[in-house]
Amino acid sequence: MLKMVTFFYNLCTRWARRFAKAAFELKTLKYHLEFGERDDDIYIVTYPKSGTTLMQMMVYQLTTDGNIDFNHIYDVSPWTDNDVFRDIPPRDLPSPRIIKSHRPQKKFDKSTKGRFIVVVRDGMDVAVSQYYQARNYNNPDLEFNTFLDDFFVKEDNWFGFSKGWFQNKKKMNILYVRYEDILHDFESTLFKVAAFLQVEVNQADLPRITERCSFDFMKQHEDKFGDEDPNKESRKKYDQFIRKGKTGEGKVYFNQEQEETFVKLTKEYLH
Ligand code: A3P
Repeated sequence: MLKMVTFFYNLCTRWARRFAKAAFELKTLKYHLEFGERDDDIYIVTYPKSGTTLMQMMVYQLTTDGNIDFNHIYDVSPWTDNDVFRDIPPRDLPSPRIIKSHRPQKKFDKSTKGRFIVVVRDGMDVAVSQYYQARNYNNPDLEFNTFLDDFFVKEDNWFGFSKGWFQNKKKMNILYVRYEDILHDFESTLFKVAAFLQVEVNQADLPRITERCSFDFMKQHEDKFGDEDPNKESRKKYDQFIRKGKTGEGKVYFNQEQEETFVKLTKEYLH
């Protein structure tokens, strides 16, 4: 009897999961039909914690007057996949739209219109940044070693994500930008991005853009950049979204064995 109940329970659970997945895919499709595509859309694509928000701010500064009158950066540069998830309807935005994405390239349609800025950051530093986010969100006791074991093996890991975007099998129009270059060589990176977007940088705007993309400025206005809408009190707000903004932390956190694993996986995936 127990065997039969277990069998039916498992069967129902499987069907419920399939149904939920299909319903979500339908919702995603409906959202994207409404949101549409434009030739001048700008996608900012990253593996989470690679400098997405900083690049959103840079592109926003380059393509507008740079005011920060918005409640949250998502109001002017939406994370559309998250909007679907949270039942936020497609936003009505002027062109060029700045769209945040963490999707692997294989999840993009080959014919997607627009331009892609892929921000790449040292994978070891990404791991440390993600570790702090995981602790801050919902797991304050998480150990770095436990986190890293999962970081290495999970299906949608940094290595596979980077490989897909570097290979660019879908021949998308991509500019690759290193997070480290934004930090250490801000101005020439800014000009590179501007050239890719065919935007002219007015010398008079340079101080404003530089200041607003700085760590200190963004930290000071962190409530506009955190991962959750500050208006939704019920949700946990990540209050370290603008955390340290440094390079090289991975070297401090990884032990020798972990670093060797990182190098080995990088060679396997990316060479
Ligand atoms: P750390 O956690 O290492 O400090 P994302 O926007 O993809 O989630 O990336 C977040 C990382 O970018 C965090 O790294 C954050 O501190 C850093 N960051 C955000 N704004 C920045 C800025 N203006 N200058 C430098 N780093 C910034």
